[in-house]
Amino acid sequence: MASILETFEALHAGSRTYAERARRVFPSGITHDIRVFAPWPIYVERAAGARKWDVDGNEYVDYIGGHGSLLLGHNRAEIVEAAQAALGRGTHFGSSHEGELAWGEQVLRMVPCGERVRFTSSGTEATMMALRLARAYTGRERVIKFAEHFHGWHDLVVGRLQHDEARPHAVGVPEGFYDSLTVLPDGDEAALRSALAVRDVAAVIVEPTGAHWGTHPMAASFLRAIREATAETGTVFIMDEVITGFRLAVGGASERYGVMPDLSTHAKILAGGLPGGCVTGREDIVSMLEMREDTEWNDGRRVSHQGTFNANPVTAAAGLAALRLIAAGGETERAEAAAARLVRGLNALFAERGVAGSAWTVSSIWHLNLAASGEMARPSDLEWDVASEPPGVSASLVTPLKWALFNHGVDLMNTGGMTSSAHTDADIDDTIAGFGAAIGDLRAEGLISGG
Ligand SMILES: Cc1ncc(COP(=O)(O)O)c(C=O)c1O
Repeated sequence: MASILETFEALHAGSRTYAERARRVFPSGITHDIRVFAPWPIYVERAAGARKWDVDGNEYVDYIGGHGSLLLGHNRAEIVEAAQAALGRGTHFGSSHEGELAWGEQVLRMVPCGERVRFTSSGTEATMMALRLARAYTGRERVIKFAEHFHGWHDLVVGRLQHDEARPHAVGVPEGFYDSLTVLPDGDEAALRSALAVRDVAAVIVEPTGAHWGTHPMAASFLRAIREATAETGTVFIMDEVITGFRLAVGGASERYGVMPDLSTHAKILAGGLPGGCVTGREDIVSMLEMREDTEWNDGRRVSHQGTFNANPVTAAAGLAALRLIAAGGETERAEAAAARLVRGLNALFAERGVAGSAWTVSSIWHLNLAASGEMARPSDLEWDVASEPPGVSASLVTPLKWALFNHGVDLMNTGGMTSSAHTDADIDDTIAGFGAAIGDLRAEGLISGG
């Protein structure tokens, strides 16, 4: 019988040809670090709803969902039509246009803290802008971020504490850059309060469900603690809703957890599957971008902002169509119901087959634990309510699990994924069947017990 890897190789010969070409073009043959995969990544040709098809004709239930951009699934008709109509009118006017205005108004209607908004071209640019606004507004330099929380790839936020270093560090960024960055463990209210007590911190930035789209869950009570401690010390609270915005609720994590930040950053769903981002929040902070009849302000205090593709007409049209659909209701709920069906189904499957695995979810975001053997904690229902940190998928199992799932028609985002309102019961049931087959394969190769 062919091994899991041999089956993967046989099913993905066309992707291999592209991957060999790509290695002569791109470092590691890829265009985003997360897409690196051995022996080679799959090459996808088209997608619709919750499904996508690769160049070898294999079909997958997709849990990457455009890195979380596609709450409404692939190619939702209303979004495609809006983008196509905009394309026909021109891709870039180099001028203000009604589409950006309608999109901006829609953002302000949906985001609880939104009093003013400025569009960017990505989530990375949004967090960069939010931090700059906070520094300009407070006249302070220091920024607090939490260990492993991801806010894109600009210089400040890529600083990480490694190997017990006291200072953050990142290859390619001057050491001095991190004089003004403090990295704290999330959930540690005392550490946060003592760092803020110095009153030299411009902003605290956080992923509201915990690091890496909640792979390391964080209690919502910590968001309330950040809100309180930042308000007491004149610090700007930035909720990075690039993943959670318009997903956890129509008004994102802020609405779901009832916590109002000063600024929030958005991208992904915001732009309907096209490139785009924004910073929104308190008028007095976002207005640091405002030009005034005051040279001293304009030259000495104002934050400048450019960006060729900010709020371009095609992105604006797609984003507006997506946000209107979400605001109309039912989309976040359908996506969440799909994730719930999946997580309950996977936990039942692991229990029934005696596999050391479990799954949990926050809204339409879900994660997986898997070990070779032993006992695995399972949530009592959907959210991770176990006292200890979820162990994730054992390092030695990640790649074989993904080969096996590819072989059985499932594409994960890292070791979990996102559901969309396009995921049907049949998509979820096919996924659970795919997992059933995959754990049988892992067992046959002696990689896990049970199965
Ligand atoms: C929480 C968070 N912030 C910021 C970003 C960066 O967004 P972008 O990839 O659009 O630059 C991401 C991307 O995944 C993210 O998950």
